[in-house]
Formats: sequence, structure tokens, C-alpha cells
Amino acid sequence: MTTRLILGIETSCDETAAAVVGRAPDGAPQILSNVVLSQVEEHAAFGGVVPEIAARAHVEALDGLIRASLSEAAVGFDDLSAVAATSGPGLIGGLIVGAMTAKAIAAARGLPFIAVNHLEGHALTPRLTDAVAYPYLLLLVSGGHTQIVLVRGLGAYERWGTTVDDALGEAFDKTAKLLSLPHPGGVNVERRAADGDPRRFPLPRPMKGERRLDFSFSGLKTAVRQAAVAAAPLSEADVADLCASFQAAAAESLADRIRRALERFKATYPELAEPVLTVAGGVAANRTIRAALEAEAAKAGARLVAPPLALCTDNAAMIAYAGLERFEAGIRSALDAPVRSRWPLDETAAPLVGFGRRGAKA
Ligand code: KG4
Ligand code: ZN
Repeated sequence: MTTRLILGIETSCDETAAAVVGRAPDGAPQILSNVVLSQVEEHAAFGGVVPEIAARAHVEALDGLIRASLSEAAVGFDDLSAVAATSGPGLIGGLIVGAMTAKAIAAARGLPFIAVNHLEGHALTPRLTDAVAYPYLLLLVSGGHTQIVLVRGLGAYERWGTTVDDALGEAFDKTAKLLSLPHPGGVNVERRAADGDPRRFPLPRPMKGERRLDFSFSGLKTAVRQAAVAAAPLSEADVADLCASFQAAAAESLADRIRRALERFKATYPELAEPVLTVAGGVAANRTIRAALEAEAAKAGARLVAPPLALCTDNAAMIAYAGLERFEAGIRSALDAPVRSRWPLDETAAPLVGFGRRGAKA
């Protein structure tokens, strides 16, 4: 019998999601259900996520998704131990919808409510999928964030590096737009890059060699634009070569930062037999980037843990799981706990210019 069942709710951006996660008798976490509804179509005509449309779509979809997640898990409200909801960072309207719904269920059923940081959901996913022990190193690469985080324990996060301008997913999306590739950008850049020559255009490797562990991608994006203008009109082969050259530069820049982060991690924890590097966020789907991270991990004698893609991108299972760890640690949130559009994982880290600028997706 799976125990300590947590209902998780995620509504911080353009995915409405609900999931039930608990502990199997052997102590392993178990996903009993994990339903996600993407709003991509609602926002497609606007070329980005429209907060007001997102909030309304969450209101319309959430009740049905919660019902579906419970019925798929074959449980009722009375079987739950707690209700967890993303309370930030993200779009405030969506956060309110998810958190208020969770609080209402908690109040009506006499269950604890647990407010979860969306980034903590991403950060703890490798523990849900691969039972990774603390401490480990996390690379979070999504459309809204590019961060290196030391995960010391539940609620104990140190941000070692972040982007000073664009997130990597954002750079992929802007490159796609520049080359008139269809949305979603990242996957289409990867597709076209497969036929291209990564050495054709000599693009910069931002931050390479810098001691600090931060990232920068806006210069790379500008260099792609300049190369595209110089080569115009672009043939199919030019587009493929630009995509391949951009992807290679991004992967090399990321690999350089990760090499240094792994060195620092090993120096911080010399007693660890097998240091672990984990990755989360949509960009982790990119095979060239994954290969570069695999190579760096292997060189450093570390293990790369990359959760399945459905759990790398936004979902509610990660929120339910973070809720489960919090529940087991005896942490409960008040029913008047606020939602926060900005909520850094490491509250002690100084915000850098551009950090979380898009503020929407995390
Ligand atoms: O984690 P995610 O689904 O949403 C958040 O941003 O939270 O990540 C989406 C980002 C987008 O910028 C998308 O272009 C990028 O991940 N992405 C990719 C690939 N698949 C998704 N970037 C590069 N290569 C891919 N295969
Ligand atoms: Zn996210």
C-alpha cells in the first residue's frame, strides 16, 4: 500500500497540472498519477504566454484535472495526507488559482496545505526518479532560468551561477524566430542543426574560461543575427549550419561552466564516492547538450542523472514530491501563505542583472 499520498497542483505558467505521489512500502516514491494540460494553443496567436489568458485557462481546467488525477490514482480526498501547490515563482494570476484551489481542498477536508517553490520541484525531481542522495549539483536550463545550484538538502540551496541576461531556452527560441523556424523554437533548432556544419560559423563561447560560474547568452544570440544578416539570403543549408553552429557554441559554453562547477563541487565534498550532476528544464531534452554534459560528468568521475523528459519540463508530480518531502519533514504552510511572483531558491543570493527577467516560466 502506498502511503503519505500528496496531491500536487502546478499552475505557475502555461501548463495546468495535477498529480498524486506517495511512498511505496519499500520507501521509494511512487507517482500514482500525473496529468498535464498545455495551454500552448491558447497562446499561439500571441507569440508568447498571455498572463490573463493563462489564469482563465487554469480556472477552467484545474477542477477537471484534479478529478482526473485522483481517479487515475484510484484515490479520494480522504486518502490524501496533504495538498501541495506551487506558490511561486511564476505568473501571479495562475499561482493564485492553484494555491487557492489547494487551500480550499485543505480547508474543506481538514488536510495540511503545503506551499511549494516551483524551482524546488525541479531541484528535487532526481530524488523522485533516481533516489539521488543529498548533496548533488543541479543544472536548471529552461525557458526562464539557467542556473547552477548546489542542493545540500531539503530547503538548503546555494546558487553558484545564473545567467546575467537571457536564459538558454530563451536564446534557442530567439534563434529559431530569427531564422523563421516554427514554434516551439528549441526543438526545431535542434532538428535543423542535425543537417548542419557546427564549424561553419565561428560564434563566441560566452563566459568560457571565466572563474565565476555565471552564464550569458545574449551576445551569442546577437552573433547569430549578425552571421545571418551577412549570409542573407539564407539557403536551407545556411539555416542548418547556423543552427548547428549556435547549438555547438551553447553546448561548449555550458560544458565549460559545468566543468568548473564540478571541480568546485568535488572540492567542497571530497568524501563523496560518486558526485552526481543532475539536469532539469526543457533544454535538457537537447541531445547535443546532454552529450556535452555526459562528457563533462565522465571526465570528472561524476554521474549524470537526467530525469525523463516529461519530468524535466513543468509538471505536478514534482510539486507533489516536494510536498511529500516537506510533509515528512513536518513542514506545513498556513492557509494565508502568500503566492510570490519572484521566489529565488537561494534567498541569500544577490539578484543579477536580468535574473528571472521573464519572470514567467521557471
Ligand atoms: O522547462 P520548459 O518546458 O519550460 C520552462 O521554461 O519552464 O522549457 C522550455 C524551453 C523552451 O525555451 C524550449 O525552446 C526549450 O526549453 N527546449 C529546447 C529543446 N526542447 C525544449 N531547447 C533546445 N533543444 C531542445 N530539444
Ligand atoms: Zn519549470
